[in-house]
Amino acid sequence: MIKIISYSPIVLFIAIFFILPNCFGQTYAKNGMVVSDNELASEVGVAILKKGGNAIDAAVATAFALAVTHPQAGNIGGGGFIVYMNASGTTTTIDFREKAPLRATSDMFLDENGELVEGSNHRGLKSVGVPGTVAGLFMAHQKYGSLPWKELVQPSVDLANNGMILTYTLASHARRMQDKETPDFLKNYFKNPDGRLVEFGETWRQPALAKTLELIRDKGKDGFYKGKVAREIEKYMKANGGIITQKDLKKYTAIERAPIKGTYKEFEIYSMPPPSSGGVALIEMMNVMELANLDSIQFNSTAYVHLVAETMRRAFADRAEHLGDPDFNPEMPLEKLTSKEFAQRRFRNIDLERASVSDSTKFGQLYDGTNTTHLSVIDKNGDAVSLTYTLEYSYGSKLGSPKLGFIFNNEMGDFNPQPGYTNSERLIGTDPNIIQPGKRMLSSMTPTIVAKEGKPYLVIGSPGGRTIINTVFQTVLNVLEYEMPIHKAIEAMKIHHQWLPDRLIFENHLMSPDTQKALEGMGHTLYGTNNLGRLMGILNATEQGVYIGASDSSSPDGAASGY
Ligand code: GLY
Repeated sequence: MIKIISYSPIVLFIAIFFILPNCFGQTYAKNGMVVSDNELASEVGVAILKKGGNAIDAAVATAFALAVTHPQAGNIGGGGFIVYMNASGTTTTIDFREKAPLRATSDMFLDENGELVEGSNHRGLKSVGVPGTVAGLFMAHQKYGSLPWKELVQPSVDLANNGMILTYTLASHARRMQDKETPDFLKNYFKNPDGRLVEFGETWRQPALAKTLELIRDKGKDGFYKGKVAREIEKYMKANGGIITQKDLKKYTAIERAPIKGTYKEFEIYSMPPPSSGGVALIEMMNVMELANLDSIQFNSTAYVHLVAETMRRAFADRAEHLGDPDFNPEMPLEKLTSKEFAQRRFRNIDLERASVSDSTKFGQLYDGTNTTHLSVIDKNGDAVSLTYTLEYSYGSKLGSPKLGFIFNNEMGDFNPQPGYTNSERLIGTDPNIIQPGKRMLSSMTPTIVAKEGKPYLVIGSPGGRTIINTVFQTVLNVLEYEMPIHKAIEAMKIHHQWLPDRLIFENHLMSPDTQKALEGMGHTLYGTNNLGRLMGILNATEQGVYIGASDSSSPDGAASGY
């Protein structure tokens, strides 16, 4: 017999709000939260939190899981950054950016006339930087983790061995990879042992990757940087024109660095210092915003977009001029760039009525990959991790050894490839980011934690190459200044300006034609794109003791999971 019960609307509302934790684009949880580009990986992180693991444990486990479930950017063959803050106010970062191999040279991508061979810095095994991910995750665990290492790697071994249901997005990638340009390694990546392409909804297993992950599980960092995996990397590189050797791998170390710190009104902002440019540019821009009277500038108005774009233009010019690997550039003016005084200089020369002109004789753009991935974590103590890592392009170099099952990055493309040569369209040739053996290439990744009263308040980051800096900047501003709920802050229209090329990029359909026209009238060159950013954020609503997570709707498989 079917029993029909009728509930009053208020009871139904309460039931939906509290029983279904994922409501209205946000996920609510009391004890912990993981937001990442893949739901299975977020669930792995939450399972670790439920077991009593802390935010670092959950971030490490989620990152390993993403290497299986989100292979376009999740990785063990790339590198990235962690920003960590615990509830008692300790803040630190871990730099596991890839390094140039010892045999790399500043002219390795140039022809006999000293010109860049088009695309060569992003193509083939010479574009691979010495991977840092395993060393970084291992260091994070050694210093700040609590559960045994093996328990953090095991879920990714299980996912690779037992397989996962292929999502629509990955199935579409698999089909696209069957063209003739795709290297064989990637062509076969989504195939069964019988050679058949795995389709949407079918189980996809990665036995070779599972074996590599087992070695990492059992031997820690050495499972990757020494022994069988290191020998196979060297062998594969030698056989196919790469230059990474066992010596490169043995020498690789992650580095703990003090975060870049700034303030915005009553908030403290902690982000990634060089070799990422993200933190410096973010703080420079927030400082400029603090000087503008935003009370009188409406969000998304012409005046707002103009001011934000002009602020970005200046921060990106400073980025190009000054930033690179700190171990090779000890004199970078980081304090100056992030100071309130410097922001006043930058703010003073913004014309509020007219677009400035980027000086193409000085700095320029280097196209970089937009396929990075970010995860945000908070645990029951309020400790937070903001982790962004990357292969550079989607599926990195698209190369890897079938025996190892993971994809190599093409991060060498983030160096300035042609020393001394900068143009208005494509290239930066400034010194701080020229290729040198053992140097880390400049990044735009901006994993960030905003603190309120000394405790993590907002955990945020995004993929997107250079747009990362600007999408994180606008999301932080949306929350801190415009008091938007986290999901609105993430979804709200974003713009991007990066000094050169001199154009203001906006999200199609989200900026009114009237605003576009007014901006053009002020001298901006506009360029529409379909999407900017794929932000993964958590807000710590301390007054209620609730964590609110949101995964950008532009992430097809992303999810905020909590408990
Ligand atoms: N590969 C993108 C970045 O590091 O910014």
